[in-house]
Amino acid sequence: MDIQRIKRVQPLMDRRFGMFIHWGIYAVEAKGEWFRNNYRVSIEDYQPSFDTFTADQYDPKKWAKLAKEAGMKYAVLTTKHHDGFCLFDSQYTDYKATNSPAGRDLVKEYVDAFRAEGIMIGFYYSLLDWHHPDFPAYNDMHHPMRGNEDYKEAEGKKDFSRYTEYMYNQVKELLTNYGKIDIMWFDFHYAEMTGEKWEATKLVKMIREINPDIIIDDRLGGDIKVDEPVYYAGDYGSPEQMIPAGGVKDYKGNPIPWETCMTLNDHWGYCSDDTNYKTAKHVISMIVECTSKGGNLILNVGPDARGNIPEESEVILKEVGKWMTANGESIYGCGISDIAKPEWGRITESKDYIYLHLIDANTVCFAIEGLKDKVNFATRLSDGSKINMAKPWNHTSFLEKDPIFIHLPKYNTLDPYDTVIKLHKVK
Ligand code: GLC
Repeated sequence: MDIQRIKRVQPLMDRRFGMFIHWGIYAVEAKGEWFRNNYRVSIEDYQPSFDTFTADQYDPKKWAKLAKEAGMKYAVLTTKHHDGFCLFDSQYTDYKATNSPAGRDLVKEYVDAFRAEGIMIGFYYSLLDWHHPDFPAYNDMHHPMRGNEDYKEAEGKKDFSRYTEYMYNQVKELLTNYGKIDIMWFDFHYAEMTGEKWEATKLVKMIREINPDIIIDDRLGGDIKVDEPVYYAGDYGSPEQMIPAGGVKDYKGNPIPWETCMTLNDHWGYCSDDTNYKTAKHVISMIVECTSKGGNLILNVGPDARGNIPEESEVILKEVGKWMTANGESIYGCGISDIAKPEWGRITESKDYIYLHLIDANTVCFAIEGLKDKVNFATRLSDGSKINMAKPWNHTSFLEKDPIFIHLPKYNTLDPYDTVIKLHKVK
């Protein structure tokens, strides 16, 4: 991966934990953002969602405060999802929030609110568009009207270049009308719908002309794991709903920047029936896991049609936030440690410290090899209190090497999620 790319993406990687927001008129049906695809719904039958999308309780300041409280340092909002509905006031379509009962530019208010909280701003933009007349329908494997004979004839009259021009213009609008945008999150490529099919080189050139520092995901196409990725291949890997076992590496085995995107229940877009929420403990362990493997976690919320983030999500995020306030130092700006993953949890590391994450602490004292002359002091991160590092009197009878020892704080004071021990490196 080239140096320029690594430099560009570093500010995002240092932030480690972000908020993904999937919001659109699909929230009215409340069955997730693939509603039209899953139920093969035509644009006409989908119209009631447009006609009744009020967003009347949309208060992005509340969202931004929640993100901040959760310890999330960046956010990505769906400016347009696969259904083609635009949350922003685009001059290239009528299918937009300002023409719906919402009557507002929802993107503008998001940008203002999140920026005010010091949160990095990202835009998700769907490459697929199930509303645009020049996007393939009958022949497209994901289109809600795929294989529908009523759409067969129209297919031959489509001009895909009109669609790529539309996309180009909209992305330009997004990057010029809302100040400096930090992240552009495209979604997604499949079959022959990849790379230059999207006119990706032209698109990315325009984007980098507007903002050379903007960070772009890897979903336009191309392969970021090769030595010299194509121009539009993006800045970081984007595994979805999974954390890769060894993090993400290029073909030579070197770690490259990545971000796992994950839902909080089982849907991205609002789904009223889906109560299968992850626990705060699960979320915290995922943040720690990603960090220990050199990656980020962007966790999703799916606000409802009136603009409220589901209460279950709010409760979980606030709980995660308590842990992050006490232990965020072991996450932000931290990454992979040279020390292998231990039995009792995970390890993250920064320039001056090594952080032991006691997730499964069922002992009173343990040893770590390889740190004898490198670490001279240990504290509990959440309260700064000293940790006993005394050597058990007979340790030489049981251990061949000369490790350091960590005596755990009293068992009943351990954090039920993850107790973090901070090892101070010898300067
Ligand atoms: C997928 C889905 C989509 C979601 C995205 C998030 O590609 O199509 O609905 O927005 O992943 O990563």
